[in-house]
Amino acid sequence: MGIFFDPENRLFFIETLNTTMCLMIADEEGFLVNAYYGAKAGRDDLRYLTGGACDPSVPSRNNRDRGCYFDKVRMEFPSGGTGDFRTPIVSVRDAGGHDSSLFTYVSHRIYDGKDELFSGLPDNRTVRMPATFSGDSKAQMLEITLEEKVLGLKALLSYSVFEDSDAILKNVKLINESDSTVMVDKLLSSNLDLDLSAFGNNEPDLVTLSGSWARERRMDRRTISRGNTEVYSTRGESSHQFQPFFALCDGNTDDSYGTVYAQTLVWSGNFVCGAGMDQFETVRAYIGISPVHFSWDLAPGGSLQAPEAVLVFTKDGFDGMSHIFHDLFRTHLIRSPYLHRERPILINNWEATYFNFNADKLLDIARDAKKCGIEMLVMDDGWFGKRDDDNSSLGDWFVNEKKLPGGVERLSDELEKLGMKFGIWFEPEMISPDSDLYRAHPDWAISSPGRVPTRIRNQYVLDITRSEVRDYVYECVAKILRSAKISYVKWDMNRQLLDLGSAGLDEKSMGRLSYLYTLSVYDLQERLLEEFPGLLLENCSGGGARYDAGMLFYSPQIWCSDDTDAFERLTIQAGTEMIYPLSTMGAHVSASPNHISGRVMPFDVRGAVALSGTFGYELDITAIPEEERKAIPEQVEIYHSVGDIVREGDYYRIARISDTGLYDAWMSVAKDKNRALLTYVQCKGSPQNNKRLIRLKGLDPDKKYRLKLIGSEREDSSFCSHGKKEAWKLLDPGEVSGRSLMNAGLLMPVLWGTYGQLMIEIICI
Ligand code: GLA
Repeated sequence: MGIFFDPENRLFFIETLNTTMCLMIADEEGFLVNAYYGAKAGRDDLRYLTGGACDPSVPSRNNRDRGCYFDKVRMEFPSGGTGDFRTPIVSVRDAGGHDSSLFTYVSHRIYDGKDELFSGLPDNRTVRMPATFSGDSKAQMLEITLEEKVLGLKALLSYSVFEDSDAILKNVKLINESDSTVMVDKLLSSNLDLDLSAFGNNEPDLVTLSGSWARERRMDRRTISRGNTEVYSTRGESSHQFQPFFALCDGNTDDSYGTVYAQTLVWSGNFVCGAGMDQFETVRAYIGISPVHFSWDLAPGGSLQAPEAVLVFTKDGFDGMSHIFHDLFRTHLIRSPYLHRERPILINNWEATYFNFNADKLLDIARDAKKCGIEMLVMDDGWFGKRDDDNSSLGDWFVNEKKLPGGVERLSDELEKLGMKFGIWFEPEMISPDSDLYRAHPDWAISSPGRVPTRIRNQYVLDITRSEVRDYVYECVAKILRSAKISYVKWDMNRQLLDLGSAGLDEKSMGRLSYLYTLSVYDLQERLLEEFPGLLLENCSGGGARYDAGMLFYSPQIWCSDDTDAFERLTIQAGTEMIYPLSTMGAHVSASPNHISGRVMPFDVRGAVALSGTFGYELDITAIPEEERKAIPEQVEIYHSVGDIVREGDYYRIARISDTGLYDAWMSVAKDKNRALLTYVQCKGSPQNNKRLIRLKGLDPDKKYRLKLIGSEREDSSFCSHGKKEAWKLLDPGEVSGRSLMNAGLLMPVLWGTYGQLMIEIICI
């Protein structure tokens, strides 16, 4: 890995272990052009790959076609109004309203290490933005300074690489060095122009993850053509609907093989990302903060920092892409001391009681949970103010003594006596119209003058961009944490931003609000972790609407979805796992029939699905059938025995329920390839159906393994569908090489019943 400059040909080589990005400074004017990005290339004169970007087409030789030049060259930092008619990454307006711009090379520096990113709040508070860090690895950076001569702007384009990663990190900072304010209408973090040859001269597929509440992160795949295809959030959070992520790939790329160019954003607010082809079949792909609900008055001397984008290239399909993201996030983004630790197995009372609980009920749950080996009770929504349903009290973070006599302190003491840790739910960014806080400070809610504020779940959003509001919110949370022994906080956010208006911003800077809001969330969470460094923080947003790389900087785990139905979770989790490590994925066993879908599912199958995440329970343990309660200690034991493989291993997708219609399967393989865990979930009995060969992945072909069935055996069977014991007899290959398991595969038996699971530990001998 490393970053190199060839001064003769004016080429930058940004190299990772297996990839090269080559940028070129074109013409005397210094346009920054992408010459190449893909599998590792030599440090050769790659200018030949840029075709029309070189002599004799450059404007200094052919100024009559200057406009055409920009419209066909692979621009690294495309702007608008000066020739490039494609989607710009930056748009600025000068004091007179003119919006043309063109950025050209001034200088660069290459240096060791990885810079932190900073931005500022209106009260002049500096906030460190979430971004990757070098940790114990070597890192190098390239900072290219571009200038917009007429407007007096500088753009600092930064590229970073780590010695142990195939990701390239990019960010942009815009600085106003002129004497007048310019309005920035758009500043994305990354643009990538690629020749169609990157995809074997075929129109590429665009993969995104989309959904809705309780249906997050489902894989969408379509072939793109001329014109852009975009996904976005304008909701003030990364959203249930789309992920700040895309992968461009060959039409035949699958989980195991094929070209993938993927990007994500280390940001938890509005975003846009997309890709499209132009008249010459050049593909332009971009990611950054959405220009919708955004404008930034950049005063003389001021700067605007765009968040970090993560770029990944691999030839190893979606599994290869996932490995790069997972390793990058685990090594260079998640800071929590819990990252590599076994997380406490928790029981959350939300689906057990909803708002209808008191300390006695919680302690009953905790007592039974403790007997089963569960380690922490999480008290969810409803413990404060007058909150007996979701219509009131957000903002009134005072314990409801009717429910919890003696307060949180007494409850945490009781739990401690039981040997249980204690976790608590907050929704700090919100305010209910029916709350003492709102009655005292109606102007603290984000709102737009003259407009009746829009309610979602009967609540408004606090304007935490104002320091007095942010301080109030912080103190509310911190006071509770200071008052009791609290190990864990679930930080929720249950509505989107609308009616954008802040009493703290004037008309020129109102367009900053969405950006500043996200920054304020970061500021609050950073302060919390500074004061409570041992706190295990879990982010959540109506399920998984804030599952993004930005949040991972603060919390090592994120609630994946409010849909805890294990069948639905197969698809939701498969999408989540494409980007995020399994160690970050909040997954709980809940009651059957499931509260959202009504689906009835065996307890062991619900367990197998939850065991591929952070693991816990979300049910009334005092009310579930005795046989289910008895099965919990075994699941707890499984978590303790193989949880490390899930947390630290390489993840491989073996089969998707969306493809097979019958079953789903995935693996985690320890880095040394001496242990692995295969989880196979049957979703349809379908006796006599033989399409059940699965090929394992990631093992050492030359090592010998034995397979161990995990968990007890269900005995129901018929002559053609099997209980686990019989199934295992049919399946167990004895001592077998990694080569056979990966190439010849395993023939999975038909399990008795509709749903069934086999969790198999694969152990090197
Ligand atoms: C959100 C969360 C749930 C639960 C409720 C409480 O929907 O995702 O897990 O905490 O809020 O109101």
